[in-house]
Amino acid sequence: MNSKLIPFLILILLMTGIAVFFSSFGEWESVERNETAATPAVAQNVSRSRRVEKDVREFKNTDLKVGYLGDEGCVNCHIPETESYRKHPMGRSMCKISDFAAKPTKEPFVAGNFRYSVEVKDKQVTHIEEELGAGGKVIKRRAEPISLVIGSGARGNSFLTETTGKLTQSPISWYTSLDQYKLAPGYEGQNLHFERPIRQACLFCHSNQVEVKADKSLALHGLSIGCERCHGPGELHAKEQKLVDGYDPTIVNPAKLGLSRKDDVCYQCHLQLEARDELPGKPLTDFRPGQDIEKFIRRNNTPVSDPIARLKAVGHVFQMEESRCYIRSEGKLNCTTCHNPHDYREPEARRLDIIKKCLDCHTVDKDCSLPMPTRLIKSPSDDCLACHMPVRNTIDIGHTSLTDHAISRNTPAYQSMLKIEKP
Ligand code: HEC
Ligand code: HEC
Ligand code: HEC
Ligand code: HEC
Ligand code: HEC
Ligand code: HEC
Ligand code: HEC
Repeated sequence: MNSKLIPFLILILLMTGIAVFFSSFGEWESVERNETAATPAVAQNVSRSRRVEKDVREFKNTDLKVGYLGDEGCVNCHIPETESYRKHPMGRSMCKISDFAAKPTKEPFVAGNFRYSVEVKDKQVTHIEEELGAGGKVIKRRAEPISLVIGSGARGNSFLTETTGKLTQSPISWYTSLDQYKLAPGYEGQNLHFERPIRQACLFCHSNQVEVKADKSLALHGLSIGCERCHGPGELHAKEQKLVDGYDPTIVNPAKLGLSRKDDVCYQCHLQLEARDELPGKPLTDFRPGQDIEKFIRRNNTPVSDPIARLKAVGHVFQMEESRCYIRSEGKLNCTTCHNPHDYREPEARRLDIIKKCLDCHTVDKDCSLPMPTRLIKSPSDDCLACHMPVRNTIDIGHTSLTDHAISRNTPAYQSMLKIEKP
């Protein structure tokens, strides 16, 4: 091994220990932490996303008085866009259990002194937790009917129950890569059984709209993430459609936004909770597409080069912002450069499409410093993504892998970082 790498690896190992100690819960946990613990005063705004936005377009539907219509209010006039969006995992982000093809457990699984199983009868799905005593005898049994499902299943599903009148999470989750049920992410460290309350932040990212009622209960308006989360409320637009100076000021077309406003639409949900602090008196639920998200949140000091932060789920934003492609192109690289929510094809077609995007800015033969013959031995199809955007395990969610968005030089130090495992 290169001797220069050793101090680097020691540092990573130390940081792994510290970070894992504090964050055995990951994405799910961060929801709790953000809401219960006092937000540390991480003042300095180090956001790299501050692109200078000239000639900002004004939209009438950023006004809080403009009403939402729900997806039903768009479908009739936009059939192709509705159909294309429903193919995307975001268009299937949440559903009722009765609309979900639930599987029963073939074999119950055991975690600590608890045994878990899933029963499916007609459309009724029940999650069962049994506490095991000496000799494996069942001392306590709890069976909860499931009502809602979070996740399209691209990577997994969480399950919610509302038997006590409020929404709580089931300790059982589905992991697509394993094709089986296991303990929910974070529960290995601290098993919260059926008691983990589902809060607004979780549903803000995973459902269309969530309202906190006066009695603190949550009301859902639409389950899967809907049109108006990216296009803004449609009340004015449905009454009158009019292009003025090449755009319609009654509805937001993200393609017509400046670079940072365009990403802000996605940052509502793709920026990790740890990476931002809410500003007092500015609830993120008041954010409307077309606005500057940093009027609602402050990007905090989560160091972008921290290997642990990089290996967490929902880290795509700062990984991308860390890439030289982003920095050296003055931020021309956007989430929507590579992802169009209205064009979600088979994985292979998606990859080929994204490689074409690399080649909008790079050339096949000149830009890559690894000589072509070597490249072709390692990757016969010269797949830029396999080497520069590899798939890596997340450190906070077990059995789940994500694509590294830092678009890094594929050096040995980088490869060792990708191999850090959740201990
Ligand atoms: C009564 C029919 C109708 C309804 C309802 C409707 N639209 Fe439209 N929409 C149109 C027409 C016609 C255009 C093209 C002309 C224009 O852009 O003003 C359009 C254009 C758009 C554009 C592109 C605007 C631009 O500047 O490029 C978006 C985005 C859009 N609609 C989204 C929506 C969403 C989201 C909803 C539901 C909240 C919706 N529309 C409801 C008819 C409708
Ligand atoms: C309302 C919150 C929200 C907004 C706004 C949002 N996303 Fe998402 N996005 C999600 C969630 C939640 C998932 C996981 C969906 C699932 O699989 O259940 C996701 C998944 C994705 C995926 C992964 C698809 C796959 O292959 O699994 C991509 C890519 C993506 N979003 C891109 C975008 C882009 C680009 C934007 C901005 C134009 C955006 N998102 C805006 C919440 C959001
Ligand atoms: C800040 C927004 C945000 C919060 C808060 C959040 N998530 Fe997520 N979650 C995402 C995004 C974005 C993805 C898509 C994959 C990724 O980026 O890791 C995702 C992925 C998932 C997936 C996998 C979905 C699939 O189809 O593969 C599940 C299940 C999930 N989250 C459950 C939850 C639950 C349960 C909570 C709350 C207790 C929660 N998440 C809180 C944004 C969020
Ligand atoms: C996750 C964000 C997201 C959601 C949700 C979403 N869209 Fe879009 N939509 C976009 C983006 C980004 C574009 C611009 C795509 C491009 O041309 O680059 C777009 C473009 C459009 C356009 C303009 C198409 C054109 O050819 O100019 C229409 C109309 C539209 N969307 C309608 C809808 C409708 C209807 C829904 C709900 C069924 C919906 N969108 C849901 C992100 C979203
Ligand atoms: C919007 C334009 C743009 C796109 C799209 C783009 N890049 Fe880049 N990329 C750049 C620029 C500019 C640089 C910096 C070049 C320099 O420093 O001279 C860069 C640098 C790189 C580097 C060197 C990174 C480092 O840390 O030294 C790699 C590797 C790379 N790009 C690969 C890719 C791959 C693979 C894709 C497609 C997934 C891609 N790029 C897409 C503009 C882009
Ligand atoms: C240079 C191209 C590129 C850019 C820019 C980009 N992505 Fe991706 N993204 C990919 C590739 C490649 C994949 C893996 C293949 C696929 O799923 O289509 C991916 C996958 C994803 C996934 C699915 C989970 C995973 O990690 O595999 C999410 C979520 C996602 N991207 C979100 C984003 C967000 C949010 C942004 C903006 C901050 C963004 N991406 C910018 C290329 C890109
Ligand atoms: C087999 C793996 C592999 C494949 C395939 C590959 N690269 Fe590379 N690439 C590398 C490695 C390793 C380096 C860093 C070499 C070094 O340290 O000089 C690199 C370096 C680069 C750089 C930085 C060059 C510099 O001097 O700063 C760019 C840009 C780049 N690659 C783009 C691409 C693009 C675009 C593709 C697809 C057409 C691609 N690469 C395919 C492994 C690969």
